[in-house]
Formats: sequence, structure tokens, C-alpha cells
Amino acid sequence: MESMVIVFYGALVVWAAMLAFALRTAKYRTFLWFGVALMVVLNIGYFVRGQAESIAFFISIYDVLDNLGVSGNGELPGGMATCPDNACTVWGDRYEAHTSWGVAFHDRFANGPSSRNALLYGHIGFNSLAFVLAHLQLAKPGTGGAANARRHRLFGRIGFGAVTFGTLCAVWLSTQHTTVTEYGGVWAMLGFFSMSFFVYGTAVKTVTTARSGDIGSHRIWMFRYLGAMWGAFWLFRVMLFVLDPLLRNVESAAILICIWASAPLGIAIAEWFRTRRPRPVIDLATAGTRDQHVAAT
Ligand code: HEM
Repeated sequence: MESMVIVFYGALVVWAAMLAFALRTAKYRTFLWFGVALMVVLNIGYFVRGQAESIAFFISIYDVLDNLGVSGNGELPGGMATCPDNACTVWGDRYEAHTSWGVAFHDRFANGPSSRNALLYGHIGFNSLAFVLAHLQLAKPGTGGAANARRHRLFGRIGFGAVTFGTLCAVWLSTQHTTVTEYGGVWAMLGFFSMSFFVYGTAVKTVTTARSGDIGSHRIWMFRYLGAMWGAFWLFRVMLFVLDPLLRNVESAAILICIWASAPLGIAIAEWFRTRRPRPVIDLATAGTRDQHVAAT
């Protein structure tokens, strides 16, 4: 398992190189699909290895930077803690101090009621499915024939159903955070509510604009929805990777910033890309009619 964390770091380095290349060439497809694939591999782990082990793997990703300069014998920084039998990490004896939200995260799902595990499975499964489908929808927008239009409509419905269930599970889990001081208690709950609002609100707008036949607005809201999803998943985890070690003296500071800021920041970044990218040249010969677009959505 330790070697898996090192493999994951390697994947992050490759991914960062892809981002640098994408920014230079303005071609983002490979970078985006690599992120989708990496998300799928990570999240499938919960269903294959179980929650306790997957959460330990997740915390181990943060352990390395969080422990830089932390002395084994001295007093721990305010935002770090130990866990029973050091079971919340895959690093063995190498790291015995961990970010305190991580210790609480592991304990709540390794030793909590099975209903909580079910909610996490529901959240991860449905939100991951919605994440993948949203990218397929953007890649194949339903133009170019009735079959494409039908597929776009079907995937749209499944994707919206998935994000609805996934977000409901997340909101339910969030209501349990009022007593989890390591996350920031009630502030964490409200932050997760706000994250849900940004993700689900943009998803709803994507559907309502499609149903009213306003394809221009539908595309715009689709970008915002993808931005919110990327914010809630990848930006959240990357921000935490940087902020957690920097703010390790103040319990819950880093995770609260990520909970509140990641989704709106994701939308802002998507908006920036959307408004500065060159407009696509639509091939009228294959683009399909407006009615096909409406039917597709
Ligand atoms: C609607 C926005 C979202 C909210 C409010 C939300 C909320 C949550 C909550 C409350 C947890 C459990 C943390 C805990 O109880 O300690 C969690 C964990 C998790 N969420 Fe989400 N989440 C959102 C979006 C997403 C998306 C889009 C994905 C997948 C693409 C995702 C995948 C996960 C995963 C895999 C975990 C387990 C931790 C990890 O391994 O990263 N979440 N989320």
C-alpha cells in the first residue's frame, strides 16, 4: 500500500506536466480525461478495498507534507493527532501524527454505524457516475443525428439522477458534522450545504435551460456545472494538499477553506476558460437542427 501512494504521487507529477502542456497549447482534452480516469481509479478503491482502508490511503497522501519538520517526541501541532494502532495510515511506523480531520474521518467510517457507510458508498458511487457522464455529454453534445440526440438525452437523464442521489447522500452525511469539531462542526455542515448548492444548482440550471430549448445557455450552464464538480472533487483535494501542511497549527482551518471555496472557485475557473476560449466553429452540415438539439436535451 505504501508503494501505491508513491505511484499516486507519480501520477500527479505526470498530470501536472499535462496541465502545463495544455495551458501552452490550449488543448485540454488529455488533461481532463486523465483527471476523470484518476478519479475513477481512486473512487473504485472504496468498493474494492472497503472504506477504512481507502480512507487510510487518502490520509496517507497528506501525511508526507503534513509531517515535514514535525518532531516525533515534541508536542504535536494543533491541527494534528494520533489514531488508535496507527490504523488511519498505510505508512506503518513512518508517520504517527496525522491531520486531525483525517483521524476523525477514519474513525467515523471504520467504527461508525453501517448506515453512515451506506451513505458514503451512495455519495461516491453516484457522484462519480455523474462526473464521468458530464464529461461524455460535453464530448458528444447530441448533434449530428437522431441517434446521438437520443443518447445525449438518455445520458443527461441518468447523469441528473446520479447527481441528485449523490448530493442527497452528501447532504445527509454533512448533517452529521455538527459534532465533528476536527472539521469545524456546524461550519463544516454549512460549508457542505453551500458546496451542494453550487453543484446541484448548476446541474438544475443545465437541465432547465435544455428543456426550454435555450441551447446557448444550456452549454454555458454545463460548463459551470463541470466547474463546480471539478472544484468539489479535484480542486478541493489539491487545495487541501497545499493548505493542510501550511495551516496544521490551526485545527480545521485548511479543510474549512476547501469545503467553502472549492466549488465556487471551480465555477470561476470554468467561467474564465469559457469566456476566453475561441468559439467553436459549428459545422452546419452535421450540426443537426434546433429541434434535434431540443429533443436531445
Ligand atoms: C455536491 C458536492 C459535494 C459534497 C457536498 C460532498 C460532500 C462530501 C462529504 C460530506 C464527504 C464525507 C466526508 C466526511 O464525512 O468526513 C465526502 C467524501 C467524499 N466525496 Fe464528496 N462531496 C461532493 C462532491 C463530490 C464529487 C463530485 C465526488 C466525485 C466525483 C465526490 C467524491 C467523494 C469521495 C471519493 C469521498 C471520500 C473521500 C475521498 O476519498 O476523497 N464528492 N464528500
